[in-house]
Amino acid sequence: MAKSKSALSWTMCVLRSFLTVTVLVAQVLSVNRENFKTCSQSGFCKRQRAVQPGQSPYVALLDSIQKTSTSIQLQLLNKHNNVRFLLQVFGLKHNTVRVKLNELEPLRARYEIPVGETLKSQPEAEQITVQETSRDRVTFSLGTSKVVILSDPFRMDFFAGGEPVVSINSQELLKFEHMRQKQGWLSRMGSGLYSWFSAPFRAEQQPDPPAEDKGEEEKKEGEEEEGKQVPPEKTDEEADMWEETFKSFTDSKPHGPTSVGIDISFPGFDFVYGIPEHADSLALKSTKNTEPYRLFNLDVFEYELYNPMALYGSVPLMLAHNKKNTVGIFWHNAAETWIDISSTVADKTFFSKVADMVKGSTELPRTDTHWFSESGVIDLFVLLGSRPKDVFYQYGVLTGTTELPPLFSIAYHQCRWNYNDEDDVKSVAENFDKHDIPFDVIWLDIEHTDGKRYFTWAGDKFPNPQEMVDNLVSRGRKLVTIVDPHLKKDDNYHVYSDLKARDYYVKNKDNGEYEGWCWPGSSAWPDFFNPAVQEWWAGKFAYTEYPGSSKDVFVWNDMNEPSVFNGPEITFQKDVKHHGDLENRDVHNLYGFLVHKATWDGLLKRSDGHLRPFLLTRAFFAGSQRYGAVWTGDNIGEWSHLKAANPMIMSLNIVGITFSGADVGGFFRNPDTELVTRWYQAGAFYPFFRAHAHLDTKRREPYLLPEENMKVIRDAVRTRYTLLSYMYTQFYKSMESGSPIFQPMWVEFPEETAVFGIDDQFMLGPALLVKPVTEQGASTTTVYFPGAGQLWYDLFTYDIHQGDQEKSVAGTLDKIPAYQRGGTIVPRKMRIRRSSTLMYDDPFTLVVCLDKQGEAQGELYADDYHTFQFKNGHYVYRGFTYKGNTLESKNLDPKGSYPTKEWLEKVIIAGVTKAPKTVVLRSAGVTKNLGFNLDSAKHVLTIRKPGVNIAQDFTISVN
Ligand code: NOJ
Repeated sequence: MAKSKSALSWTMCVLRSFLTVTVLVAQVLSVNRENFKTCSQSGFCKRQRAVQPGQSPYVALLDSIQKTSTSIQLQLLNKHNNVRFLLQVFGLKHNTVRVKLNELEPLRARYEIPVGETLKSQPEAEQITVQETSRDRVTFSLGTSKVVILSDPFRMDFFAGGEPVVSINSQELLKFEHMRQKQGWLSRMGSGLYSWFSAPFRAEQQPDPPAEDKGEEEKKEGEEEEGKQVPPEKTDEEADMWEETFKSFTDSKPHGPTSVGIDISFPGFDFVYGIPEHADSLALKSTKNTEPYRLFNLDVFEYELYNPMALYGSVPLMLAHNKKNTVGIFWHNAAETWIDISSTVADKTFFSKVADMVKGSTELPRTDTHWFSESGVIDLFVLLGSRPKDVFYQYGVLTGTTELPPLFSIAYHQCRWNYNDEDDVKSVAENFDKHDIPFDVIWLDIEHTDGKRYFTWAGDKFPNPQEMVDNLVSRGRKLVTIVDPHLKKDDNYHVYSDLKARDYYVKNKDNGEYEGWCWPGSSAWPDFFNPAVQEWWAGKFAYTEYPGSSKDVFVWNDMNEPSVFNGPEITFQKDVKHHGDLENRDVHNLYGFLVHKATWDGLLKRSDGHLRPFLLTRAFFAGSQRYGAVWTGDNIGEWSHLKAANPMIMSLNIVGITFSGADVGGFFRNPDTELVTRWYQAGAFYPFFRAHAHLDTKRREPYLLPEENMKVIRDAVRTRYTLLSYMYTQFYKSMESGSPIFQPMWVEFPEETAVFGIDDQFMLGPALLVKPVTEQGASTTTVYFPGAGQLWYDLFTYDIHQGDQEKSVAGTLDKIPAYQRGGTIVPRKMRIRRSSTLMYDDPFTLVVCLDKQGEAQGELYADDYHTFQFKNGHYVYRGFTYKGNTLESKNLDPKGSYPTKEWLEKVIIAGVTKAPKTVVLRSAGVTKNLGFNLDSAKHVLTIRKPGVNIAQDFTISVN
């Protein structure tokens, strides 16, 4: 016992000094780049990046074609080594094409992400029509889109509405490293011998086409250049193909090289976006002179801005946008992935093979991208748009959308590493109340546990968690506790001993228990790739299993990339083993996703699916949006990080991760009061709004700041609360449509080229434009108001700005440059309480901002704000229009009804120039004159007390 105790304190001591040193070094140096690979330090990245354009050995064997009514498949041949591949192309519903490329006969099955993980369900097939099959091409259509497969070299071109939009392998960068046997001494004489000898054997082994397909198209025997022998390729064996070393870590690579790569060009497009997570601009940049963008979930300490280094999460979805078209590429691969980007001009040569398809000028801007992953198969979805909202929908159909969050979770969250004990929690809540600052949730970081043993409490600091929660709940508040996936290797810790007894841990390459270091010291990790482990983990959130938890306690999953302090690049070794004979290499980017998913399942299960879960994750992958919120990790309390949060959150939003935000105030360092204040003003418009701070930072709860700052912060938080119903409505719409909430300007103004590169302002839903001030000492800022003829109303003063101009506006410390778009109606609640839960029944103010025609429209979604009863029709979805001087409220969805107590307290109409004589409400057969007054200087008409229930039909005529 004594021995283990001293071993423990030694471990902690080393760990702490490791952390302290890292913190100290980091404070001076920022990210330690040494810890993370560059492309040239990664064997497959180096090999893929070295492929030269225009020398492709891959030909599509059109004679091998097999067709069904919704798909085409054919073989591809690598002429250098005679290895064959199977290309499958599927027409899918909603203008989407799936392209899969795998080895025809791999020595070992290559990993494919199973349906139900990133893909919500099996994608629905759509009819395709083959239009032409000739010696050099196959052409088919899918609705109004068209796809051409060219034979030699293999290439695929996609056309939307007659325009070329996507081209695959037009640069001829396809490189598919087939599975091979590890070679002995013979190999040193040249690996080409293997290909040379094995090629005819492999060619002979082609399977017969499936019986049902045989009749569709006669196989033209003999036409295939099957027997044609090409010389063996020059040896491509490189030293790091079978073993690779980075720093002191050796990757055993038992299966050798397995990478896949191909180029994807977007003719006609200057702008591409997406592929988070990177601390970079919204519009992706050329990587000609930099590293490629990297997707590999990593815990990057003090990450650096404006570079393509990997961060905590990965979504391999890229969107290309121009005035006419928006398209997307979803690269469905969970292995480490890198993406190169460059822009050029597509000329006649580019189109020569398909020139007959291209209308008008062939001189087009073009963005070329090159994708490569360490293993798996090429499995890509081409989302053919054609408008931004179509692409969001297409992607949402595939990977799912964010479930409607409980209302409290889109309100304000107060977090810090750490709230020390129960008294601390109590005093924070009391101080917020004393200063009239609403908040809904307080968070407890790792120190609340018994020695970083998740699902437990530090008994000396949190002896009565249930009582603490009850206190919070009495004011409509909730608690979030952190639950990380690393489990302290301590046989007396029930979660770990259970894990061990069941053999549920991640294994090392020798099939033993994988051991690494994280917060608790020596740790093991549950193997979430095993469905039984997911279920086991989910069970740990049962109220009976997790003492102190209750329906008002929610969860935060952190360090789930996973972060391993003593692992290569601070994560698992690639040869670590997962259930189903998988290596971490194949699935790395899915680990955090599965932690999040299993936790979500646990929160669902604990209330028998009745209550909506809330949980936050740091690591993520495509589809993570289905399980709740994501934040941008450990940012820094510096102005540059405040600024970078905008494009980072926008990038997450356009790949479906709508419920996202950044740590308000910045996690590391001590931001000054001005920066904290500005950060709250920005954060008040993040879909996920949480303040957080590192253990070593000074306390910075808003009530501790000077009065002037505290008041500004209070106003910002209260503004958020006035807008909760509007935001909740956006979450509802986003769940239905997959559309972002924190939107780049081009999503709402897709034809306005001037906004394509803007990422320092955003649209919150369709109605609000926000330009956070991110410059120290600013008293003004520049806003781009889009839309010729569009009016923009200051959110606070109703001052009008004309569209189609860049303008300097006031940006003093007390001012948030936020605007309501003319032509919109925004429902707000102006009575602010301690928490959103206490505001459930409160009345609405409808804010109507007229456009130049004197018209406007808007929507409101409402329900019980916390259960899944809305899935049984318990909701109201109202549409408001203002036209011909009449405001009308109608039911937008007859399938929904809910006995809400919310009512209409006030209507504000901005843009009214003439005082009306009367204002008359008509509802349910009752007619009532309403009181009103016009502020003629501001052109704002305020109508008092319509008093009608918000779920009721009504009209208000302003005459
Ligand atoms: C890292 C997280 O990113 C941070 O938010 C958290 O406070 C620490 N881990 C401690 O749990």
